[in-house]
Amino acid sequence: MSAVSLKIPTFEDYAHFYEKRFLDEVVYWADDEHHELSLNDYAYGRLCAQTEGEILERIIVVNGEPVGTITAREYIRRTCQCTLGIVIADPQYWGHGYGYEAIKQFTLILATKGIGRVLLETYANNKRAQGCFHKIGFRKRRVFFAPNTGRFIVQMTLDLKPPRPIGEVIRPNDPRWKNPKS
Ligand SMILES: CC(C)(COP(=O)(O)OP(=O)(O)OC[C@H]1O[C@@H](n2cnc3c(N)ncnc32)[C@H](O)[C@@H]1OP(=O)(O)O)[C@@H](O)C(=O)NCCC(=O)NCCS
Repeated sequence: MSAVSLKIPTFEDYAHFYEKRFLDEVVYWADDEHHELSLNDYAYGRLCAQTEGEILERIIVVNGEPVGTITAREYIRRTCQCTLGIVIADPQYWGHGYGYEAIKQFTLILATKGIGRVLLETYANNKRAQGCFHKIGFRKRRVFFAPNTGRFIVQMTLDLKPPRPIGEVIRPNDPRWKNPKS
């Protein structure tokens, strides 16, 4: 069985890795700048953003321990795109294939929600992240300089295959067809 699974977040999950999440080393790779966030602000902020539908987030669990977050934001229903973010909060878990496995599982969730293209941005010097994303199938689209961070950013994209239907497909010309509720 895979060591990695995804779960719906709870306050306790965020509390579990809160301290490590804001270590300088993690913030350097994951954030635009250091934010002074209390545990309550961090955890409730993320839980609220999910309730409001601003983000779709899962907790990355490795051998039963919550270790980080994987997130879709800027979900655009019309264009079926979203932007991916991933942070494994404890550096000792980096480079073991857990990020790869978490993204694989998360893209299946995104595909079932109708997402067809995933975008992401990462720092140009974040070779670990780019190696992981490239292995999954993300391809580099462009590189630009972000004056607010003083760093170069690589933008990558991945096209998702629509999920295969598991039963019979009913189309609009079938007498059993019902229009989707608006
Ligand atoms: C980015 C992150 C999610 C990647 O997850 P990970 O578990 O560390 O990465 P993986 O071990 O799955 O990497 C998979 C592939 O990336 C490549 N890779 C790993 N480390 C690398 C490195 N230092 N340089 C280049 N390629 C590297 C390898 O090809 C690896 O494949 P392999 O397992 O066959 O060797 C994780 O490192 C992390 O959370 N880092 C801090 C926050 C961050 O950078 N987030 C991304 C912001 S966009």
